[in-house]
Amino acid sequence: MGVSFDKIDGATWLKFEIQPATNPTSEKERAARLVDPGFGRIFTDHMAVVRYNQAKGWHGARVESRANFPLDPAAAVLHYAQEIFEGLKAYKREDGGVNLFRPDANARRFWNSAERMATAPLPEPAFIEAVEQLVRIDRAWIPGGEGSLYLRPFMIASEVFLGVKPSAEYIFAVIASPVGSYFKGGPAPVSIWVSENYTRAAIGGTGAVKCGGNYAASLRAQAEAIDHGCDQVVFLDAVERRYIEELGGMNVFFVFDDGSLLTPPLGTILPGITRDSIIALAKDSGTRVREEAYTIDQWRADAKSGKLKEAFACGTAAVISPIGKVCSASGDFLISGGAAGPVAMGLRKQLVDIQYGRAADPHNWIRKVL
Ligand SMILES: Cc1ncc(COP(=O)(O)O)c(C=O)c1O
Repeated sequence: MGVSFDKIDGATWLKFEIQPATNPTSEKERAARLVDPGFGRIFTDHMAVVRYNQAKGWHGARVESRANFPLDPAAAVLHYAQEIFEGLKAYKREDGGVNLFRPDANARRFWNSAERMATAPLPEPAFIEAVEQLVRIDRAWIPGGEGSLYLRPFMIASEVFLGVKPSAEYIFAVIASPVGSYFKGGPAPVSIWVSENYTRAAIGGTGAVKCGGNYAASLRAQAEAIDHGCDQVVFLDAVERRYIEELGGMNVFFVFDDGSLLTPPLGTILPGITRDSIIALAKDSGTRVREEAYTIDQWRADAKSGKLKEAFACGTAAVISPIGKVCSASGDFLISGGAAGPVAMGLRKQLVDIQYGRAADPHNWIRKVL
């Protein structure tokens, strides 16, 4: 198959060849797997794949049976980790249709990740088309209720070459995983461990993009959090080691006694789409939101004095998780008595209602796929 871009209404679209799985999962088996899908362990029948090389550019766009990639042991990704990814969800509406939440924002972030990691950038319409085609063909896998279909677009460097340079070949693919409600019985407050031994990102580094290496580098710190009985790790800045940055896979917000919100500024953190949406919703309702640096010492002092009312983490997977307890080598402290606070819970409901199509969508965030 040759280069398969089409111009429609002035926009560039990839034309996907659709090859439905010849031996898809039976309805009975699918229903059994959807009873308690957990997170990221079960997968749908198909994947979308597009390949890149320098001669053809992006080509060979297909939706096909989910299968292993044949990968040469010298493929660049296996040695130098030239890889980027995204995470977004499809939500089933009450009328049976399906919503994507801000896929254009994921496509743009993927483009930025590609630029930083020197991979071939994928045009936004091609990213969105790949995601939509996969959601359409695997729609029967989208759980009802508070479940959703987690979509994982990613790109790997597939050139067979051991020299250290940007790969000349890439595979872009999207896979899908049905997920249950992140928290059964409502969001439980999480405890977090302040990483004083390890940092996540430095100025000029890769903290603001979604590349696998960032997560590999976070695992030791996350393991330390678990060893200390905590759910998640929170990282401090790499220069002064005192400003709060973000959790291993979520951004963070603070709620003060005057009702205002504060979140660490962009730069070395991932520009979360949930973070951006929360800022917009809070501003819509007249809440003051500051994107400002905040130190761990100030956090502890504000929690003790009562100036800080709540803290919460946010991201696509869990939407909003209240933070109940902060632990560190220099002692622990509780936030809002360790319970979930009303601001976090209110913002969570507002956002989830938009995602599932139960509330108005004033910012045009929803893209109806079906
Ligand atoms: C390091 C990190 N920060 C923040 C987020 C939240 O981003 P988003 O709201 O786009 O899911 C994620 C999750 O993708 C993440 O991995």
